[in-house]
Amino acid sequence: MPRIAYVNGRYIVHAQAAVHIEDRGYQFADGVYEVCEVARGHIVDMPRHLARLKRSLKELSIAWPVSEGVLPMLLREVVRRNHVVNGLVYVQVTRGVASRDFVFPANTNSSLVITARKADPAAAAKRAETGIKVITVPENRWDRVDIKSTGLLPNVLAKQKAKEAGAQEAWFVDADGTVKEGGSSNAWIVTRDGVLVTRPAEHGILRGITRTTLFDVAAKLGLKIEERGFSVAEAKAAREAFISSATTIAMPVVEIDGAPVANGHPGSMTLSLRQAFFDIAEKSPA
Ligand code: PDD
Repeated sequence: MPRIAYVNGRYIVHAQAAVHIEDRGYQFADGVYEVCEVARGHIVDMPRHLARLKRSLKELSIAWPVSEGVLPMLLREVVRRNHVVNGLVYVQVTRGVASRDFVFPANTNSSLVITARKADPAAAAKRAETGIKVITVPENRWDRVDIKSTGLLPNVLAKQKAKEAGAQEAWFVDADGTVKEGGSSNAWIVTRDGVLVTRPAEHGILRGITRTTLFDVAAKLGLKIEERGFSVAEAKAAREAFISSATTIAMPVVEIDGAPVANGHPGSMTLSLRQAFFDIAEKSPA
């Protein structure tokens, strides 16, 4: 059964799917994207993802490639055609194809690509049992990281550096020592008093959809959340640390720059949040 991609109005065999060489996504990273989790056949938090996509498009003055209302149907269709029960669906919109010029082209249609792929929940569960390691890197991104742009070169380099250090994520750290977020995830800690701490999303990080939904989940569990910055030192001394994203949900962090977080094992609050996300958030049909 071949994988199928949606490219500008057509469903194409994934291996043959392509965009034009003068697509501005390819030339300038002039585009935005969303990654949604697919769990037990439904797209988790799709309305929130599409609301963020709308915001990203508006911030960059990129036109909708199709009418807004059609997108949920297209995402579901790509998931269906690829028989994805558990996995991810990826949607990317660029400013379209135009002869290379930095300024916006006058009459170009935005490009739309949607792909989906399967993931193994058992492998993710296994990863959560051991937790992940992170390294820290100096923040070197532009200041509009609130836009989910496809311009991800600093993130690519940071995550490659993490991989070379035997870690799975890199945390961008401000000049004052506060943790911003991961290369592809938000960063959290649990204090010694059992309070969840994550940086405010008004500025300097992407407002993660998983982060937002974990706020709902934490409220249901009666957990306290503080939105404030935390330093690398505070994270190392915390009771727990974890990351959140559509691809990892709540994933324990057991080591930061080679130093163990608490006893070096996944934290119990992180694991409860992870379980509650599955029980609460993944069950509400999108
Ligand atoms: N990344 N911060 C950054 C820089 C991210 O790239 C992501 C997600 C997040 C978490 O957002 P969400 O909870 O909506 O997934 C935070 C996706 C998964 C990716 O690029 O693959």
